[in-house]
Amino acid sequence: MSDEHFEPPAGPALVTGATSGLGTAVAWALAERGWTVLVHGRDARRTDAVVAELRAAGHRAHPYLADLASLRECAELAQRVAADHPSLELVVNNAGVGFGADQRRRELSADGYELRLAVNYLAPVVLTRMLRAPLRAAGRAQVLNIGSVGQSPLPLDDPQFTHGYSGSEAYTRSKFALAAFTFATAEQYGRDGIQVNVCHPATYMDTAMTHDSGITPWTSVDEGVGAVLTAVRAGQRGRTGLFFNGTSTARAHSRAYDKGFQQRLADLTSNLLSRVEGVEAAVW
Ligand SMILES: NC(=O)c1ccc[n+]([C@@H]2O[C@H](COP(=O)([O-])OP(=O)(O)OC[C@H]3O[C@@H](n4cnc5c(N)ncnc54)[C@H](OP(=O)(O)O)[C@@H]3O)[C@@H](O)[C@H]2O)c1
Repeated sequence: MSDEHFEPPAGPALVTGATSGLGTAVAWALAERGWTVLVHGRDARRTDAVVAELRAAGHRAHPYLADLASLRECAELAQRVAADHPSLELVVNNAGVGFGADQRRRELSADGYELRLAVNYLAPVVLTRMLRAPLRAAGRAQVLNIGSVGQSPLPLDDPQFTHGYSGSEAYTRSKFALAAFTFATAEQYGRDGIQVNVCHPATYMDTAMTHDSGITPWTSVDEGVGAVLTAVRAGQRGRTGLFFNGTSTARAHSRAYDKGFQQRLADLTSNLLSRVEGVEAAVW
């Protein structure tokens, strides 16, 4: 894990999906480096347990509950975080759904959207958009999206994957959309001093997601934490619009940089968000 220098935190850090795997380890790594960590989870008991363990070790941590498969709950989470913390330095959009145990099983979110698209892409869009004001207020802030090297272009004529479904393809489509969103948002948020990057932590880490897919892990969670810390440090230094593959910068899928595609994705996303009551349609 990296021990290089970090700037003193300019505000708290929200880590989504902090009750398991990479998210828990990142919450600890940030707390150990001085951040107050806003621990997000979807299960009250497990979220409180992570917070209690962090506090017992002398760190500052607060629990936040939301099922990110509901866009209304995403919006409410952002509202609670913004109300409690008018200044926020870091959002790690880490929560995610993997390939699944049964690759042919197409699941839907509470809003009726394909589940991986909803949790891995639409939830980070809503959180990022709705936390823009507290991020701007911190003076120096960043969003780090936890993506993947596995990226395949999202077909804009069938974003809900209604034909020929596969869990792994749904996953790589959602991570492709997250990468395209990252690059577009980096431009939009640059004027507010907010850096936005995307990171592939490590390949097949030893986490529930990997095990649930029936894959024998290749790497440790610590390796993923090292990549996340490298990206956070780069964000603190003002670097933005980057894709990190582990601890190195790399090229994401070429179409994720295509401005025409980014605009069409933003239009589609805005349309999907607008159909859910209580959620703003704005993408940035
Ligand atoms: N594992 C890898 O090798 C690998 C490689 C590349 C990228 N990634 C990315 O790394 C991130 C972390 O994954 P991981 O490997 O640490 O897997 P993990 O242990 O399965 O963690 C996934 C986290 O997302 C949360 N989550 C899933 N659905 C949610 C929902 N509807 N609402 C709220 N939270 C939800 C889970 O909550 P619960 O704790 O309640 O289950 C869990 O905390 C993901 O974005 C993943 O795509 C992982």
